[in-house]
Amino acid sequence: MTPIDQSNYTVAVIGAGPAGLYAARQLAAQGVQVILLNRDIKPGGLAEYGIYYNKYKMKAGLRKQFRQIMEIPEIHYYGNVMVGEACDLKLDDLSAIGVQAIMVSVGAQGTKWLGLPGEDLKGVYHAKDIVYHYNKLPPYSTRDFYIGRRVALIGVGNVMVDIAHWVIRDLKVDEVIAVARRGPVEVKFTKKEMEYVARNLDLRALDVEMGRVAERMRDVGQDPEAAKAFLLAALPKAEEPISDTHFRFDFLASPTRILGDSEGRVCGLEVEDTKLVPKDGDTKARGLGTKRVLDVETVVFCIGDKVDDDFGLPVQWNEFVKNPEPSFPVDGISYEVYNHETEEPLEGIFVAGWSREASSGLVGVARKDGESGAKAMLEYLQTVRPSTDPGRVLASLDGLLAKCGKRIVHKEDVLRLEAIEEAEAQRLGLEVYKMKTNEEMLEAIGVE
Ligand SMILES: Cc1cc2nc3c(=O)[nH]c(=O)nc-3n(C[C@H](O)[C@H](O)[C@H](O)COP(=O)(O)OP(=O)(O)OC[C@H]3O[C@@H](n4cnc5c(N)ncnc54)[C@H](O)[C@@H]3O)c2cc1C
Ligand SMILES: NC(=O)c1ccc[n+]([C@@H]2O[C@H](COP(=O)([O-])OP(=O)(O)OC[C@H]3O[C@@H](n4cnc5c(N)ncnc54)[C@H](OP(=O)(O)O)[C@@H]3O)[C@@H](O)[C@H]2O)c1
Repeated sequence: MTPIDQSNYTVAVIGAGPAGLYAARQLAAQGVQVILLNRDIKPGGLAEYGIYYNKYKMKAGLRKQFRQIMEIPEIHYYGNVMVGEACDLKLDDLSAIGVQAIMVSVGAQGTKWLGLPGEDLKGVYHAKDIVYHYNKLPPYSTRDFYIGRRVALIGVGNVMVDIAHWVIRDLKVDEVIAVARRGPVEVKFTKKEMEYVARNLDLRALDVEMGRVAERMRDVGQDPEAAKAFLLAALPKAEEPISDTHFRFDFLASPTRILGDSEGRVCGLEVEDTKLVPKDGDTKARGLGTKRVLDVETVVFCIGDKVDDDFGLPVQWNEFVKNPEPSFPVDGISYEVYNHETEEPLEGIFVAGWSREASSGLVGVARKDGESGAKAMLEYLQTVRPSTDPGRVLASLDGLLAKCGKRIVHKEDVLRLEAIEEAEAQRLGLEVYKMKTNEEMLEAIGVE
């Protein structure tokens, strides 16, 4: 890229998760003034509020990197600010005050329900709400979750393993059933993550289950023995079990209905047996018409998330729509938002991280995506006149935010809050201490 003087540009990055933070750093490194707006008081997104709470070392390392990014003078942090239609700020407000480009890196905040009967029963949850709960993100931190003795987890990715980890090791429930619409070959979790729960696998139940689905696997050329070996691969390095929970899989089973009792609580999950059908080098699940009921009291959907439909950008197939013919592609990827109905690009608006591709990849992937999105934005800025007075844009933003009557959280507030929480953790002899409500956090950092 040709170096240009970017110091008279002011852009907004919405969302201070990994994608937004690394995008902001990349932009600031070119001298761009970055307004970093974040729904949560603290930065970090799912690195703070998604990654399993006791991965202390990993989370501390990420927090340290995020703190360094927050200290960059060109980055202006505005936490506790919700952007979107009917929120504290709309996208149009940002353009109106002279922001020259917008990076949307708000993750995937929508909930992907399947539309099954019984999804509104007590005891049906989406994984995201639970991981926000045990990671203490307000308001989920103080919400009650009714977790029964027998729990069905729908989906077999790493998020399912995180929820299994919580219900097996923290809640010590009796039984956990991971329900997969496809088979053992198509599981998405990694061996490493399974190490937390592998010793709770009910090996007899696994044998029975493998026997039940073996023929349907062989029908599409799969090797049941090799698949079983992967399911058990975590055992040698697995953590010692600390509960008697029986953990089992129910493969080739697609949820069709959640059954409730007279008090509106879950009392069963109906599934339809499926078979595998080859498709484009992969497989698809096809219903066989036969149904069974799993005896469970809680159902948690661990099937990935979608973007927020009400954010104010065009959405199609659970994602913000990207320009199919981008002007500033990076590695062939489009970071530019597009209105598929009018077939027009939304000029100057970019997406990165889970806002570009929902529920896909690790922190490192979100980081690279944020940086690539920033590269696309920097290319775009070269086509825009550097006429903005950054001080004026920031003053207009302060004026707008003052009208919404909320306590805006700045970078020095976050530092103060982190120091207070660290001191409290030390006092209590804990690895980490987190305040559970926004009110507590705001009170701790004081009024402006
Ligand atoms: C349960 C779970 C566990 C995971 N564990 C791991 C792991 O162990 N290791 C690993 O590498 N990866 C893990 N990941 C993946 C990793 O967390 C993601 O890849 C990464 O956080 C995505 O980054 P992002 O910035 O795109 O989105 P997010 O991290 O979701 O960040 C989005 C940010 O946008 C803000 N925001 C949302 N809406 C708005 C709005 N309307 N206005 C303003 N701000 C808004 C939020 O406050 C948040 O700060 C896990 C993911 C999940 C769900
Ligand atoms: N510790 C870690 O490193 C960690 C922890 C958590 C998350 N993550 C990462 O975060 C990302 C998201 O993880 P994830 O577990 O949410 O997603 P994922 O890996 O894509 O798994 C989603 C699961 O849900 C199933 N599913 C999706 N739609 C379904 C439907 N309509 N009906 C039934 N089942 C359905 C999928 O089955 P099909 O395969 O049949 O579609 C799959 O088993 C991944 O990249 C993951 O690695 C990492």
